Amino acid sequence: MLNLHKDHKNLVLLAFVVFAALSIGVAIMPAYQMEEYQPIPGMKDLTAQERRGLSIYVSEGCVACHTQQVRNIEMDNIWGDRPSLASDYYYSKQRMDIWRQSPSLLGSERTGPDLTDIGNRQPSQDWHLLHLYNPRLVVEASVMPQYSWMFHKSDTSYVDSDAVTLPRSITQMKDSEVVVASQDALDLVAYLKSLQQFSFEDNEPPMNFIPALSKDGETAIGGSKKSEGAGLYQNNCAACHQVTGRGVKGAFPPLVGSIIVNDQNPEMLIKIILVGYDAREEYGVMPALGENLTDEDIKAIADHERSSWGNNAPEVPLETITRLRDSITNDRTL
Ligand code: HEC
Ligand code: HEC
Repeated sequence: MLNLHKDHKNLVLLAFVVFAALSIGVAIMPAYQMEEYQPIPGMKDLTAQERRGLSIYVSEGCVACHTQQVRNIEMDNIWGDRPSLASDYYYSKQRMDIWRQSPSLLGSERTGPDLTDIGNRQPSQDWHLLHLYNPRLVVEASVMPQYSWMFHKSDTSYVDSDAVTLPRSITQMKDSEVVVASQDALDLVAYLKSLQQFSFEDNEPPMNFIPALSKDGETAIGGSKKSEGAGLYQNNCAACHQVTGRGVKGAFPPLVGSIIVNDQNPEMLIKIILVGYDAREEYGVMPALGENLTDEDIKAIADHERSSWGNNAPEVPLETITRLRDSITNDRTL
């Protein structure tokens, strides 16, 4: 009879066998199963810079608060167009080097939003840098820590291109100083921008969300899509111009009282949404949003902006938007 109270050799042996069995079951077998996964055809590999960014994401512990998995339940459908597949992780899960296992970035805590598709949701480098420098500059009540050590102050005469557009009042900088992002910060942002859920545009997605049934047995998916202006504004513009339309001083201009927004002729406003805007030194760059928004979406957003926060301008005819989009696409293809 095995008496573990007296038999120390067998005690150690038993502990070792249990340890080995668990390691094989929990770590080694799944790693072998992963070997079979293929990348989705057409999926992009990470560039060298994005891969460095991934290491920084790991070393800064961003995974403690952010997931990168869209679960197959309806409440996750705001984080991607479809639930995540094993192959989605193909490139980010390759071994980092011979000594280090591929990092597990799926995460289990969602203190902050899921980042599976953050590259599509927020494509602006300026926004990401500002947010890393101090999240409270762009999201008032954010509890995300600031990563300002990834930036340094510098004399304007040395740099210009990598300078981050920051509200001066908050950083207590001298006029001659600018804040410059370190290579680490730029790499991290490159990685964040690369996080875009691969879309199966031409085909049906391989998996659909399991929809929750409502009381009368109808599924809720699809019908709940926010099509009205306030929701679209919230999702596409408020990160920078803020829900209040007041912007962020020194980084993103206010839309409240803006001449462009209130102009009787809405063409400039529509063009800015379609192709982006970079007119003034004191503000960052607004990315083009035309590809993410339909003409109806843009009409809803424009009408919302022209009738909120005390702004007062007539509705935008849908034809104007269609015409401007066509003329812009034609210009490009010439
Ligand atoms: C203590 C928890 C915490 C940590 C650690 C953390 N974040 Fe966040 N993060 C949040 C919260 C909360 C939000 C939502 C509020 C906001 O946007 O600032 C957020 C928002 C974000 C967003 C915007 C997401 C969106 O959908 O708008 C990005 C991008 C982001 N974090 C990246 C990072 C990166 C990169 C790191 C590591 C360098 C990191 N976070 C570390 C809590 C955290
Ligand atoms: C990533 C940040 C960002 C997002 C998102 C964004 N903007 Fe902008 N927007 C800017 C910046 C920066 C400027 C100023 C550019 C300049 O003047 O150089 C600007 C300028 C504008 C202006 C000109 C305002 C004025 O009076 O000068 C309008 C109008 C505008 N944006 C509308 C929108 C709308 C509508 C959306 C959503 C569909 C949107 N923006 C989303 C950053 C953003």
